Amino acid sequence: MEMFCLLWLLVSLVRLSPALPVSQEPEGNPADRSVTPAAVEMATGDLVPTHFPARRAAQVALHHLNTRHGSPFRVFGLQQVHKATAEDVGTGGRKYSLDFSVTDYGSSGSVLRCSADVLFPRTEKHSPPEVQLRCEGLQQISSSPEEEAFYQKHISPDSAVSAHDIPDSCGNISQDMKPFWHLARVAASFIMLRESSENTEYNMAQVANVSQQETSEKQLMLKYHVLLHDFVSQEIIHWKLLSSWSPDGGVRVLETEWQPKCPHATKPPSAN
Ligand SMILES: *[C@@H]1O[C@H](CO)[C@@H](O)[C@H](O)[C@H]1NC(C)=O
Ligand SMILES: *[C@@H]1O[C@H](CO)[C@@H](O)[C@H](O)[C@H]1NC(C)=O
Repeated sequence: MEMFCLLWLLVSLVRLSPALPVSQEPEGNPADRSVTPAAVEMATGDLVPTHFPARRAAQVALHHLNTRHGSPFRVFGLQQVHKATAEDVGTGGRKYSLDFSVTDYGSSGSVLRCSADVLFPRTEKHSPPEVQLRCEGLQQISSSPEEEAFYQKHISPDSAVSAHDIPDSCGNISQDMKPFWHLARVAASFIMLRESSENTEYNMAQVANVSQQETSEKQLMLKYHVLLHDFVSQEIIHWKLLSSWSPDGGVRVLETEWQPKCPHATKPPSAN
């Protein structure tokens, strides 16, 4: 059984990012990600919508969407890229223009059609991608009765939640923990958006642990240790983060702290 579960975890990590056109990517040690964009052959013009370069840019737009509109009951996943182009913008970087649709994995299951421009700046030090996004139907989103109920249930400090391994090694998430998993995915999107470059594709892999913090504010306060998966390097990257949420205040990320895997490492991958 244990073997089976481990296998599930591996398979699901691979499945997070289907359709792998490896040829576009630099080879070698992930620590060498200081490869300047100019050294990497990047596709320009119309891109194949199902292929990696288009999907990677759409994933960044999705992280942006989640940081703006995510909640414990609303988290968007990529459904399909319909159209994608890429162009160099002078010395300023590379811009991807995308048409795609997203699914709300939270509770509504609704599908939205979006378009976005994603600019990966070409700078010596890493700077986050810049995203401009429009989605049909986003204006109608308002906080739901289940968000309100979840908030009321957990805002009283004598019911502090703590949990670990969401999902567990078999991929199971209990019904009670789903909103905490969704909130972690949204909060992790703030980090994944900030850390993304043309040489990464981040997905949320697992919540190692979560504990609710006491607060005098009218916000749920949650401390997470999350595991992010970078599809390009196949690395699992650990971050600690402190996130707050309320139906009115939305999701905010107050602190983030990269967790080195090796004792001598001193900076997160994007700092390379
Ligand atoms: C996952 O959870 C379900 C429902 O709680 C349970 O029936 C099932 O046995 C679990 N699966 C594994 C592999 O543990
Ligand atoms: C949370 O998980 C991480 C990674 O497994 C571990 O290093 C850390 O000690 C855990 N923290 C708590 C409070 O359990």
